[in-house]
Amino acid sequence: MLTNHWEQTATGIWRLTIREPEGITPLTWMGVTPKDEVLQQMPQVEPPLAWDRIQLEEAGRNFMLSFPLNPTEKLYGTGLQLLRMNQRGRTRYLRVNSDPKQDTGETHAPVPFYVSDQGYGVWVDTSRIVTMHLGSSLKQEDTRLEEIRDRNTDKGWKATPVASRVEIQIPAEGAVVYLFGGPTLSDVVARYNLMCGGGVLPPKWGLGFWHRVPTLYSDQQVLDEAEQFRLHDIPCDVIGLEPGWHSHSYPVTYEWEKSRFPDPASFVDELAHKGFRVNLWEHPYVSPQSEMYADLQPLSGTHTVWGGLAPDYSLPEAAALYKKQHEEQHIQIGVSGYKLDECDGSELTNNSWMFPAHAMFPSGLDGEQMRQMYGLMFQKMTADLFRSQNRRTYGLVRASNGAASTMPYVLYSDLYDHKQFIRGICSSSFSGLLWTPEVRRARNAEDWVRRMQTVCFSPMAMLNAWGDGTKPWSFPEVEGTVRHYIKLRMKLLPYLYTAFAVYREQGIPPFRAMPFVMTPAEIAGAEAKLAANEQQHLNTTDGAYGKKKAREWDDQYMVGDALLVAPLVEGETEREVLLPAGIWYGLETGERYTGGCVIRVQAGLEHIPVFVKSGSILPMMSALSHVPAAGTPTAIELVHFGTEPGTARLYEDDGETFDYEQGKCSWFNLAVTVDQDGNYTGAWTGDNDQSSSYVGVTWRFAQTRLLMNEQR
Ligand code: GAL
Repeated sequence: MLTNHWEQTATGIWRLTIREPEGITPLTWMGVTPKDEVLQQMPQVEPPLAWDRIQLEEAGRNFMLSFPLNPTEKLYGTGLQLLRMNQRGRTRYLRVNSDPKQDTGETHAPVPFYVSDQGYGVWVDTSRIVTMHLGSSLKQEDTRLEEIRDRNTDKGWKATPVASRVEIQIPAEGAVVYLFGGPTLSDVVARYNLMCGGGVLPPKWGLGFWHRVPTLYSDQQVLDEAEQFRLHDIPCDVIGLEPGWHSHSYPVTYEWEKSRFPDPASFVDELAHKGFRVNLWEHPYVSPQSEMYADLQPLSGTHTVWGGLAPDYSLPEAAALYKKQHEEQHIQIGVSGYKLDECDGSELTNNSWMFPAHAMFPSGLDGEQMRQMYGLMFQKMTADLFRSQNRRTYGLVRASNGAASTMPYVLYSDLYDHKQFIRGICSSSFSGLLWTPEVRRARNAEDWVRRMQTVCFSPMAMLNAWGDGTKPWSFPEVEGTVRHYIKLRMKLLPYLYTAFAVYREQGIPPFRAMPFVMTPAEIAGAEAKLAANEQQHLNTTDGAYGKKKAREWDDQYMVGDALLVAPLVEGETEREVLLPAGIWYGLETGERYTGGCVIRVQAGLEHIPVFVKSGSILPMMSALSHVPAAGTPTAIELVHFGTEPGTARLYEDDGETFDYEQGKCSWFNLAVTVDQDGNYTGAWTGDNDQSSSYVGVTWRFAQTRLLMNEQR
């Protein structure tokens, strides 16, 4: 008997169990504790949809679960989606795949979780591929005959009339489905993240600049290149090693190659003394040359990849072997983390590599499930390893799924379209994921500097020179601008770190797409003002702005509460920006804007348009060459913008361990007031005795732009 009975599991969260799903799922695998105390403090909301409008029925061997849609509703999420942000009207085939070149829904990190701009969300927790028809399917009973038009004669003909429901194909064995209430879209995502344990708080050094060196580099080459960063006065915290550090790779051994790295411990140590952490590239497939091969063989799947074993890490024995090897050979000598590559798989003709869906694993999982879960397995195993040492890690992963918000990992891709890379920052924010628009190579200095500007305002500021050997100074004509933005990122570190602390505690992502901060009505209102302006423009000058298509504003985003980033790509010198209501300032231009409308801004190569809200207080530090070690006294500057009073919070802890979970952390309240004579006063309150390294606090009031000392 199929029951469509939803039970409330937390404030604003309801659950439906279809059949009796067996085996692991993203949520059960991650084993996280929901942040119930925080959820309880969120608004009490009624179920967002009428239960009798949610239908569950058998459909062949699967089940179909359907939810009502209103005609203009927009749907976001479904994981990292590089090709579009609003998924309304699309069928999403949510399979892990490293080549999301077509807009099918397949991606490095598919998450069967969609969020409506009407303030609710639906997540299917399963290890199987889910197909979501997000308003792309029309049942006979819903088809309104009067909407069917004749293509021969009607220019307004559309392929599909507007569908009035979402249909989700639920796997044959069943699944657990969650419905999240709002009232706002931000609340929906926060509830999802909180149920999955909250957001991740990276170590502070993880938010510095990252550089990955070319393959086959030796220890000396790495040390020399690291030195170059200091000589060029370009901050850098993490050096990533690419293939070549393993004794064999493709498939890998996880053991150091002796001729290039004769003494890995001293190498890691030497870099540490110079303020660099080491991150190691690896992939899942175990080489016959690996010391673990024989032990892992019986614990692996029926199929190999690149000739290497694909171990079944859902088995504790297999996970224990992997962990022991990594702990002894990497973590104990000071390695800071991993880049978990190629756990996603590809079927491209020239480069097909992945076990098939029919592969079988000793635990009983099949290839489909293992592929959907592999990225999560590696994230969890490695994160646990560092946690057991009371050290935080931060790294990269190329596959993920649901329930990943606590994981200290950032997604990346071999694709390289800059606009898609910006969209990735927006789309990942709906699903508890982080994404880096990594820089690799560039067509010219303009492309280079635009990409560098974007990446400096992203969850991980990284140059991945594995194949091209580029350096931040590769285009000397723009080196000054590149240095400026890497330094600006360092300066903003206390602000960024606080945004991540909010993610950890309240589930609100540090990088947020625009629907997090503007309702559909506010967006429509702002767009309507643009239309009026354009009308004027049309009458007076040219018709360039005449025809507009609907914009999704998937090329701009918020960083924390105060900053709005609107990157430009090669070939652009101006763009439209959707500005939320209020007064805003160009962070570096000082220009004043009234929001609640769409503005047009120009920015030469030396600038990325970033806006700061009036009344904001940005906590900033100096542009040091790297993040100082825990406990190092650090001067802090509190920069207040505009003429309005304002408040902000600042988070601080040791930046490296999990001691904050035992209360060793501080939240400071910052407040700026203005008296009748226009004098500003800043107040800093909070439990100052708790492990804060911030000293020498200085205030700057009523700023309209950020002044940096460095020459460009
Ligand atoms: C790719 C990865 C690149 C680089 C390369 C090394 O799979 O996406 O960033 O690590 O492997 O072979």
